[in-house]
Amino acid sequence: MSHIVVTGGAGFIGSHCCVELLQAGAQVTVLDNFCNSKPEALHHIAKITGICPALAQLDLCDESAVSSFFAANSVDAVIHFAGLKAVGESCRIPLTYYHNNLTGTLHLLRAMAENGCKTIVFSSSATVYGMHNTAPFTEDMPTSATNPYGWTKQMIEQILMDTAAADPDWAIVALRYFNPIGAHPSGLIGENPNGIPNNLVPYVARVAEGTLERLSIYGDDYDTPDGTGVRDYIHVVDLAKGHLCALEYAKTHHGFEAINLGTGNGASVLEVLHAYEQACGKSLPYVIAPRHAGDIATSFADPQKAKSLLHWQAESDLLTMCKDSWNFTLQQHP
Ligand code: NAD
Ligand code: UFG
Repeated sequence: MSHIVVTGGAGFIGSHCCVELLQAGAQVTVLDNFCNSKPEALHHIAKITGICPALAQLDLCDESAVSSFFAANSVDAVIHFAGLKAVGESCRIPLTYYHNNLTGTLHLLRAMAENGCKTIVFSSSATVYGMHNTAPFTEDMPTSATNPYGWTKQMIEQILMDTAAADPDWAIVALRYFNPIGAHPSGLIGENPNGIPNNLVPYVARVAEGTLERLSIYGDDYDTPDGTGVRDYIHVVDLAKGHLCALEYAKTHHGFEAINLGTGNGASVLEVLHAYEQACGKSLPYVIAPRHAGDIATSFADPQKAKSLLHWQAESDLLTMCKDSWNFTLQQHP
C-alpha cells in the first residue's frame, strides 16, 4: 500500500482528494496547519470512507518540523495543496503569500529530496495563463501572472521544473486547475469560506440560503454570448480523481509535466446562477455591477493533455455541481 502525504489535506480540494485516495486503498497522512480549515474535516473524511487519515499538524514554513516529519516517515509521494489562495488578499499582504507558498514549498521539496521521496503532484492554477492568451488554454502557452497569488503559482512551477531538470529521479506533475466547485455528494465536505465569499459559487450559495441578499455580477459587457464572464467550472470530485491519475502517471514518467484539469466547457455567470436556481428551486436576486479589475472575459481549458497522458476526463455537468453545492450548504444548518 502506498503512503501518500497530502499537504493541505483538510482544505476544500485536499479533503476530497483524501477521500478518493482512501477509497483507492492508499495510506494517507494529512499535513496541515489548519490556517484555512478545521480538524473536523478529517472526521468527515472518516465518516465517508470509514478510515481516518493520519494527521501531522505542522506549518510547512517550520523547516525543522517538515524535515523531522520526512526523516521519521517513509513516504511514497506527496500531493501538495497547502497554500494561501485569495487573490485580493495576496495583493494586500504579498509578503505573507510569497513566504507561505514559496518557503513552504522549498522546505517540502528539500525534506523530500533528503529522504529519497521524489514524486510530487502540485496544485497549480489556470491563473498562470494570465490576461493575454485566448481560450481554450493549452499547456504550451506562455504563462504569466497578474497578482502575487498568481506569481506564487508561476514561481513554484519554475522551481519544480528546475528541480526536475537537475535530478532525473524526480517525477513532478503540476495540475492547472480551472474553477473547482461543488461538494462531495454526501454533503459532508465542501467549501465554506469564512466571511463573505470571494468566489462565485460560494457567494451564490449564501444568496440561496438567504444570508446574503443578492449576487453582484461583475460586468455584463464582456465579449461573451450573454456579456458575463465565462469560466470552466469543474466538480471538485472530478478534480480530486485527476490527482490519483497524476500519481499513477508519475510512477512511470519522470521529469516535469504541467497538465490542465478542466472540463473544456465554458459557462457564463448567468448560466451558473440559473443552474443554481434550478438546483435550489428558488429564483436568486442579482444586480449588474462594474467589471472586477483583473478579470478576463473567458477562461476554459483544452483538456486533451489530461485525457491522453492521465486517461482522465471530467464527468459531472454544471447542474450536478450546483446540486452538490446546495446539498452541502443545506447540511451546514441542520
Ligand atoms: P484551502 O484553503 O481550502 O486548502 C488549503 C489548505 O492548506 C488549508 O487546509 C490550509 O490550512 C493549508 N495550509 C495553507 N498554508 C499552509 C502551511 N504553510 N502549512 C500547512 N498547511 C497549510 O484551498 P483549496 O481551495 O483546497 O486549494 C488547494 C490548493 O489548490 C491551493 O494551493 C490553491 O492555491 C490551489 N488552487 C485552488 C483553486 C480554487 O479555486 N479553489 C484554483 C486553483 C488552484
Ligand atoms: N463573479 C461575479 N460575482 C461575484 C464573484 C464572481 O460576477 O461575486 C464572476 C467573476 O467576475 C468571474 C466568475 O464569476 O467571471 C468566476 O469568478 P470566481 O471568483 O469564482 O473565479 P475566477 O475565475 O475569477 O478566479 C478563480 C480562482 C482564482 C484563480 C482564477 C484563475 O478563484 O484563485 O480562478 O484560475 F486565480
